Amino acid sequence: MTGSPNGARDPETSGARGWGDTVLVDIEDGIAWVTLNRPDKRNAINPGIVWEMNAVLDAMEEDDRVQVVVITGAGDAFSAGQDLKEYFRDVDAGPPLARERLYQANSAWQWRRMMYFSKPTIAMVNGWCFGGAFQVLIGCDLAVAAEDATFGLSEINWGIIPAGIVTKSLAEVMSQRDALYYIMTGETFTGRQAAEMRVVNFAVPAEDLRERTKALADTLKQKNPFVLRSAKTAYHHVKSMPWDSAMEYLMAKSDQTKYRDPEKGDQKGMSQFLDDKTYRPGLQAYDRSR
Ligand code: ACO
Repeated sequence: MTGSPNGARDPETSGARGWGDTVLVDIEDGIAWVTLNRPDKRNAINPGIVWEMNAVLDAMEEDDRVQVVVITGAGDAFSAGQDLKEYFRDVDAGPPLARERLYQANSAWQWRRMMYFSKPTIAMVNGWCFGGAFQVLIGCDLAVAAEDATFGLSEINWGIIPAGIVTKSLAEVMSQRDALYYIMTGETFTGRQAAEMRVVNFAVPAEDLRERTKALADTLKQKNPFVLRSAKTAYHHVKSMPWDSAMEYLMAKSDQTKYRDPEKGDQKGMSQFLDDKTYRPGLQAYDRSR
């Protein structure tokens, strides 16, 4: 497989399978590398990407080969945000119901489906990341950026607010000062700054981006997938709950997780530590193959 200098696959040479025209999916060693593939348009999100990404997420959820999903962009962009022509101008000129349905489908893949997606997701930000692309970025569980990637909330520069659910997403992950600064000035920031502001987990030199993202995905692959899913679902729910409700919910979620976990991970973990003394849970995951 051939990688481009910034870590994203070159769709011409990687052998990745096209999913329609605008999204490529390349499944390798438990990781689905999902590439937004409109490099000539800096992977701007048009209706094609919206519908294809919804279909891709359905397929990735059902595909037993996939343990972790990585979302990235072809060429020198992660994504230049919503497509000003195809997503806004053309759709605004059409029937209101079609616009409503498209917007709903867009929030589905960028936000709600991603937040509760049954498998771990990582955004691999290889270049330009603007506007609506923040929703994809923040919708993913984790994010890794090239140090020199360029981020921007450019909406103010052409007279709209960061809508969809972007402003809400920013309020979740950025401090008020940082969020309002970038929303109101439209200034760009780098991958390195994104890591300092915790918009991404970490930033690495572009040439290491794919390898470091793969290493993170490999770490997630070692964990119990059912428990990973419960853990992230619980995190999102308890954020908006009062303490007492959160306590009750987490007790119930924990019991549900133990009861429904097909791997019975808690029992394996406990006996490998207490009886077999073959691992230390403080330092690694239990051996899922035993
Ligand atoms: N919507 C539609 N087309 C786009 C978008 C977009 N968001 N971004 C880039 N394109 C298109 C350009 O129109 C151009 O098309 P053309 O070749 O047919 O003329 C092509 O992609 C390449 O764009 P350039 O501007 O030539 O590329 P360059 O590498 O010089 O700059 C950059 C890249 C900085 C990303 C620039 O394209 C840009 O500013 N794009 C808009 C970014 C933006 O404001 N996004 C937020 C949209 S609003 C929202 O998401 C809610």
